Amino acid sequence: MTQRAAQVDRGSEQPAERVILALDRPDVASALALVEAIPELRWVKVGLELFSATGPEVVWRLRERGLQVFLDLKFHDIPATMAGACRSAARLGAGLITVHACAGAEALRAAQDAAQDAAATAGLTAPTLLAVTVLTSWDAARFAGELAIAEPIEHYVPRLAGLAAAAGIGGCVCSPLEVAALRAAHPEPFALVTPGIRPAGAARGDQQRVMSPAEAIAAGASQLVIGRPISAAPDPASAFAACCAELP
Ligand code: C5P
Repeated sequence: MTQRAAQVDRGSEQPAERVILALDRPDVASALALVEAIPELRWVKVGLELFSATGPEVVWRLRERGLQVFLDLKFHDIPATMAGACRSAARLGAGLITVHACAGAEALRAAQDAAQDAAATAGLTAPTLLAVTVLTSWDAARFAGELAIAEPIEHYVPRLAGLAAAAGIGGCVCSPLEVAALRAAHPEPFALVTPGIRPAGAARGDQQRVMSPAEAIAAGASQLVIGRPISAAPDPASAFAACCAELP
């Protein structure tokens, strides 16, 4: 097993720290097999599929290997429950945790405070909470029709990002096409983490609006979530290295 540095600063200059591999896998064994194939890996994303299958065990196992974990469970609930969920996630040692901005300012503040307190009590580095604004699976017509929200998505996204920032949340998950506008409104160290990344020559799959790793970082992204271009490649370590090589 490859040992990695136990603590890696998010946002530092190393390209490998800017690439978060999405572990869209159904069990611990296949998730660990993928990370073992990429010794240079620093960050991984554990989402709803993997966490629902394994519970906290997968986070423990990844942390044991020195990996930083983005726990992408998209919490959205009443303030007390948001606080409890973020407290538990922070105690697990997650470095990034997603919450839905539309939970509202009170819930976001409660989540942020709870995560910080829990990490401090456990002697861990405080995680960065990331707000999800509008899921990129929504299109304008369905957004207006099904949710009866009249404001265009391109206005609603920065509104929710502003709400999250004002509540003390440390960053947002956003589409690559939203990065430049959000970065203009929210300078570093506000985190902007973007999926929908496709290196030159990689299959788009079900992603429609994509950017290359270099383009997304140039637009202001702090970190990139990349899944299949690395995990489905014949040689995941080479594919990871190629993504990193594109970055400044
Ligand atoms: O394989 P691919 O690079 O498309 O994986 C992207 C990852 O980012 C997946 O885990 C997907 O669920 C996640 N994601 C996304 N688009 C969003 C939010 C999350 O692709 N808007």
